Amino acid sequence: MSDFIPVCEPMLAGNEIDYVTEAVKTGWISSSGKYVGQFEEAFSSYCGCRYGVAVCNGTVALHLALTALGIGAGDEVIIPSFTMIATAYAVCYTGAVPVFVDADKNTWNIDVSLIEEKITPKTRAIIPVHIMGNPCDMDAIKSIADKHGLYIVEDAAEAHGAEYKGKKTGSFSDIACFSFFANKNITTGEGGMVVMNDEELYKKCRYHKNMCFPLDAPRNYLHNDIGFNYRMSNLHAAIGLAQTELADKYRDHRIANAKLYFENLKDCPGIVFQTDEKDSLNVHWMNSIIVDPEKYGHTRDELIGYLKLQGIDTRLLFNGMHRQKALKDFGCDCDGDYPVTDMLSDNGFYLPSASNLGSDKIDYISSVIKEFAK
Ligand SMILES: Cc1ncc(COP(=O)(O)O)c(C=O)c1O
Repeated sequence: MSDFIPVCEPMLAGNEIDYVTEAVKTGWISSSGKYVGQFEEAFSSYCGCRYGVAVCNGTVALHLALTALGIGAGDEVIIPSFTMIATAYAVCYTGAVPVFVDADKNTWNIDVSLIEEKITPKTRAIIPVHIMGNPCDMDAIKSIADKHGLYIVEDAAEAHGAEYKGKKTGSFSDIACFSFFANKNITTGEGGMVVMNDEELYKKCRYHKNMCFPLDAPRNYLHNDIGFNYRMSNLHAAIGLAQTELADKYRDHRIANAKLYFENLKDCPGIVFQTDEKDSLNVHWMNSIIVDPEKYGHTRDELIGYLKLQGIDTRLLFNGMHRQKALKDFGCDCDGDYPVTDMLSDNGFYLPSASNLGSDKIDYISSVIKEFAK
């Protein structure tokens, strides 16, 4: 197989071109066209939520959600140390300080047993991240949040359509955030959404997203609060609506990819997969593996180099939040030990994972990994 296999590419297999063309032809290319509302309605319903607020990416979705909850300077917010840095940045934008909790070595999600020791009188919220599309143990997180009077903001950026106890991600918490970056299971190119059931939170998100223009008053260009321009354009929403129409199809492709990788590689010594949370449907945003160099016979970096020579693209797993100079300089406590996060960062990487990857490519990639094992 000679073609280069990218780590991900979007699958745009439905009405995307028709809807975008319609938006261009009618001139509704900014944020006022019909697709924004239709996408918000369709995607929030898909998640089992009453309201959705479309924004321009997943990072600002998190910032908007935290702002709507009134989180700010003097507060602390608990996040997993193993996440994409956007989770931490969003907390920093509010002036609050992110506090890190290590990952579980099997599920790679926040280790729920370590959360309570990080709670202080300043803690206001927990942000569970459904990492790689694996929904967190939300009952356990909810019982801690209830006991300590904390909000839960789900970071579901990687988990469109994932389920926990039969309910979709986005519907387990006070407010939840999605990313629609091009590598996500549902994409708008760049984009994000905040979903929730509470009408007051919905109004606050709409208000802050659009410069704090009053929601129910004429535009006199007088503003009472500092707002943001986090609007999504009608062009992006047109793609998002088309993607949402096929959400289960895209999701099921990713799940099928993951099953095939697992079947092909489960007996390969030193290749370790993420374990699904109990009672959950993991949507496997990115097929990630950990290399145990003792058992595999090569390090992670040696395997990545070999895959590259065979035309196979990969990406490293995230580096832990405690390793980030930016967060240390911001004032985060980065001194503790995060052994599971370190293990994931140092030994893990993603394999090609696009929804339209195809079983022939997965078989080829798996055979290259097996043939390189010593
Ligand atoms: C866990 C997590 N949170 C937040 C984000 C931020 O999303 P965006 O890139 O759309 O800003 C990402 C992006 O990949 C992510 O993986």
